[in-house]
Amino acid sequence: MEKREVFKGLAGRNAPDCFASLRTPCYIVDEKRLEENGKILAAVAEHTGCRILLAQKAFSNYNFYPLLAPYLAGTEASGLYEARLGAEEMPGKEVHVFCAAYREDEFEELLRYADHIVFNSVNQLRQFGKAAKEAGKSIGLRINPECSTQEGHAIYDPCAPGSRLGVTREVWNREMTPDLLDLLDGLHFHTLCEQDADALETTLAAAEIRFGDVLPRMKWLNMGGGHHITREDYDVFRLENLLRRTREKWNLQVYLEPGEAVALNAGYLVTTVLDVTENSGIRTAVLDASAACHMPDVIEMPYTPPLLNGEAEGPETGQFRLAGPTCLAGDVIGDYSLDAEPRPGDRLVFGDMAIYTTCKNNTFNGMPLPDIYAMNRDGEFTKLTGFGYEDFKGRLGSGKRE
Ligand SMILES: Cc1ncc(COP(=O)(O)O)c(C=O)c1O
Repeated sequence: MEKREVFKGLAGRNAPDCFASLRTPCYIVDEKRLEENGKILAAVAEHTGCRILLAQKAFSNYNFYPLLAPYLAGTEASGLYEARLGAEEMPGKEVHVFCAAYREDEFEELLRYADHIVFNSVNQLRQFGKAAKEAGKSIGLRINPECSTQEGHAIYDPCAPGSRLGVTREVWNREMTPDLLDLLDGLHFHTLCEQDADALETTLAAAEIRFGDVLPRMKWLNMGGGHHITREDYDVFRLENLLRRTREKWNLQVYLEPGEAVALNAGYLVTTVLDVTENSGIRTAVLDASAACHMPDVIEMPYTPPLLNGEAEGPETGQFRLAGPTCLAGDVIGDYSLDAEPRPGDRLVFGDMAIYTTCKNNTFNGMPLPDIYAMNRDGEFTKLTGFGYEDFKGRLGSGKRE
């Protein structure tokens, strides 16, 4: 992704000086960029009749749901809590839920919030499908098109061999019964990760080959997330053609549930340099932000996040390593060349930090959770929430025994 695009929201601002008054580390969510993303998604929906949901696993800072609601059909949840959040904070909009396995003791409550419930196996459809149908819900089953369109990220590939996600045609043939099929209103697949419309075309073709006989019975088809629609060079034209074709060919409602695309490049993580160390010629700036705690995908994915006033480099060419303050030797954000030599007290700003961060962070080593701010169109900040010792302690126990 072009760096210019990542920091476009800061254009004209003297960053990181404009963040000088904020206690670090902190996340900033950029309302202007969120709105721009929302408009792109709303245009796709308008041109194609497709409905687009926010996948809350990627971004669930609900203060921004009122801003996003006009552009979206609703929210997608991974379980009870996200379903409730979507129902509470984007009222009047659709709530869809997919979970790899639902719990008996939560299902009744889930029925209060969800409009669409997608099951991951024929077993789960058998266990919960009838109750969901009787409660008036739209019922779906996740299929596995067995078509990988990505390499090198098996952890993010639901079509990797042996994946537990989605029913393969072989299992469907063995386990599906006419009465269970009668319960189904729709099919769901999710296979992509940060991909373009060509990968969706390939995946859809694979799904049609395997499940084409079932599609005419369905009212809807949910094509999951992983569509990088709001990236500058994404082929929106190709996506729109595919969405229109699919709707007409199968006479069904198409859904997309992107997470990243909704909040792409709409967040920053501001951090302060605490120290600079040196070992075997490698100079490391130790920051008050941690990869392990505050941007876990940097380690999990892995990737090197974009930095304002610096370039991500390989270990050979990077002048400085940026790393977190925890005890984990691998709490490394990446190797960079920087416009200026980092000194204690300097502020650094990482980009594209609204997604898979605030909803995924943790307090390993007793690290504080970063405060979260909104930045409005005029560059003014509002603190949305802050955290302290009690937030760390409260997750570990309490003074009482039950
Ligand atoms: C079922 C499902 N839907 C939607 C998404 C959102 O994907 P992304 O944030 O890449 O668009 C995911 C991500 O893992 C997912 O598992």
